[in-house]
Amino acid sequence: MTATAPHRPFTEQHIGHTELRDTHRIDLRRTERDAFADARPVDWSTLTWKDAGRPYRVENWSSQKLEWEARHGEQLPVPEAWSMFNRSFQSLFDTNPMQARLNALKKAGVAVTKRELRAAWEAMGEVVQWTVWNRAQRVEDTIWDPRAKRSLFAGLDVEKPRILFLGAADGYEAMLLSAMYPGGEVVLVDYDAWCEEGRFGAFPAAYPFLGSDPRTGAERVWYREEMNIDFVVSDIRDLPYGREFDVVVSIGLVEHFPDAYKPTAFEFHRRFVKPDGYCVMTTPRLHPRTRMFYLLFGDLMNFSYRELMDVRQLGLYAWENGFEVLRHGQIKTHNGVICRAR
Ligand SMILES: C[S@@+](CC[C@H](N)C(=O)[O-])C[C@H]1O[C@@H](n2cnc3c(N)ncnc32)[C@H](O)[C@@H]1O
Repeated sequence: MTATAPHRPFTEQHIGHTELRDTHRIDLRRTERDAFADARPVDWSTLTWKDAGRPYRVENWSSQKLEWEARHGEQLPVPEAWSMFNRSFQSLFDTNPMQARLNALKKAGVAVTKRELRAAWEAMGEVVQWTVWNRAQRVEDTIWDPRAKRSLFAGLDVEKPRILFLGAADGYEAMLLSAMYPGGEVVLVDYDAWCEEGRFGAFPAAYPFLGSDPRTGAERVWYREEMNIDFVVSDIRDLPYGREFDVVVSIGLVEHFPDAYKPTAFEFHRRFVKPDGYCVMTTPRLHPRTRMFYLLFGDLMNFSYRELMDVRQLGLYAWENGFEVLRHGQIKTHNGVICRAR
């Protein structure tokens, strides 16, 4: 059993346990609830875009993007947009939302007493944002969503897999996979060099991942530092690998490619997966709650092209781009598919 130490505070004795930390939830509960919900079977070969409809585009842009474009007289380049996104998104994970909400409430109170109505209005906007972030990330864990993701990732026929995470940012899902299928190797790829320290490096080292023990097959708690992970700063297009990975995963990547570039996005996955390997892809769901999230957090999140779609649309893109869809369904805020190159 893993020793209890400050940097490894949870052991197998804590399986089934959940608790709230300042910025996130610890969740070692098994996946009886919050599971990946398999959607109804679909005959992808006969589904048409007329039946499935088209994704919704999020177009309320961040003021940072608009200011950059006004200053430079051109569209914000995509890598620059990701660099802004990563710093901005990570700032949410790094903040204690209850404390930030309290600070914003005090700010609003002071502004009201000074009759500074604009400042009071802006501070109330911050109060709403921190209230929603507290619920979405910390209380309901809808972003990391470990229980549903474990359920989505379950049952892959792999042993000591080589896992490639395209557009890895904090690398969360690859760590979840590595705990479930231990003993292999993980390669995280992101062209935003800052992510290696600023996102992956900033991920709480004491966060426990529920997985299995390769020697016994029993449940085991894993930590990031125990995993064999490489962070590669590179454009996906420039990676030197062939079809050598057992699992290629992307979380929130393909919806950033307009239809003309979707084949490129799917080709990214096919290029590196073994013929009998798996591609795991998720995209944010088209749902009133996600639409509301991207509306409320537009200033912090919307730096580049983004679609919200349903799982039939994600599956149809995968099918059209040469993948067999083995499994499709929904986790809390994302759609998920497990595919194999046809
Ligand atoms: C939306 S994020 C993925 C979501 C991620 N799970 C998170 O928590 O933010 C997409 C990531 O892919 C990276 N990315 C986008 N296009 C890329 C490319 N062509 N090569 C390498 N990384 C890329 C971005 O820098 C960004 O960190």
